[in-house]
Amino acid sequence: MTELKNDRFLKALLREPVDITPVWMMRQAGRYLPEYRATREKAGSFMDLCMNPELACEVTIQPLERYPLDAAILFSDILTIPDAMGLELRFAQGEGPKFDKPLTCKADVDALGVPDPEGELKYVMDAVRTIRKELAGRVPLIGFSGSPWTLATYMVEGGSTKEFGKVKGMMFDEPQTMHKLLDTLAQSVTSYLNAQIAAGAQAVMIFDTWGGVLTPRDYKEFSLRYMQQIVDGLTRENDGRKVPVVLFSKGGGGWLKEMAQTGCDALGVDWTLDLADARAMVGDQVALQGNMDPSILYAKPERIEQEVKTVLQSYGKGNGHVFNLGHGIHQHINPDNVGVFVNAVHEHSVKYHEESSVER
Ligand code: CP3
Repeated sequence: MTELKNDRFLKALLREPVDITPVWMMRQAGRYLPEYRATREKAGSFMDLCMNPELACEVTIQPLERYPLDAAILFSDILTIPDAMGLELRFAQGEGPKFDKPLTCKADVDALGVPDPEGELKYVMDAVRTIRKELAGRVPLIGFSGSPWTLATYMVEGGSTKEFGKVKGMMFDEPQTMHKLLDTLAQSVTSYLNAQIAAGAQAVMIFDTWGGVLTPRDYKEFSLRYMQQIVDGLTRENDGRKVPVVLFSKGGGGWLKEMAQTGCDALGVDWTLDLADARAMVGDQVALQGNMDPSILYAKPERIEQEVKTVLQSYGKGNGHVFNLGHGIHQHINPDNVGVFVNAVHEHSVKYHEESSVER
């Protein structure tokens, strides 16, 4: 067991006192970094990069070499599970993800099996093991998966969509087929995340990128219910330490209370609500991770710093805040602005943690 040198991210997720607010960014390893683009070029395609544990490790560490981030996130993608189920994922240049064999009917859904995380998905577990070794306790490593609903949207649509016509068509017209798909996915995600934890992931996050396109009723029935199933099935311990679970439903600001009741440790929050309001909704139940508008990173350094202060102020004093963007960093951001952002979080958060164990 290597000792963790910086554990303020894990502590904040468990609402324990920290010296300063920990910070990391969704998509922190990505195309805004020239060194990422170089490694991606060397790998060939995006999936070649994901499937090569050494190169996946290299790009995971890249943002940490530039900025004093408090966590690393496994470099991979949420679509590895559907690919392992046989849907044949590819990333067409400039078009985003595409499945050659999308799900079109009940028979397609019935034919799906639960992938073996140490079989078809072994490359992901190898990446986790390689990254943990390379990190040598510098910061914790986050593992992740997509939510069943979000994975289902890509699997039924065959790629990205703005309308969700096919996937909602299946949900409305063939709810039993949709439930079967979501149940198979929930089982797959549970075993995938448990394998990541066994391989060394020290926290796990479930990305429900498309939960927010559902009505409140459908969200509970088709998204939250299956995230609950996953939370209930996770082994939440590694190396004798608790492994916190973070749920993030983009556009799910109105449902934070219900999400907090799943028994997860923290909730991701996008930028469409104030952290003060989010905190009022969840009380002491969970930590919050977020929620600066990623577009602010296009602004001037002074403006970025001001926004960091506003977000810190909105959460206020006390434990349980992990600073993040409200969604992934955009690819055309100037990397220098990210440095301004990360340093500002650390510098301006000190005052929110003085006597934090007694004052809330
Ligand atoms: O956060 C990180 O740094 C870890 C890596 C990570 C990636 N994808 C790398 C990636 C994570 C956590 C994801 C999750 C993911 N993937 C989500 C959920 C989070 C979110 O952003 O809402 C979703 C919906 C996907 C599916 C996906 N993967 C899409 C829609 C795309 C295309 C995006 C685009 O702009 O082209 C990807 C590709 C992808 N995943 C890239 C990266 C760095 C860019 C691919 C490239 O290098 O060309």
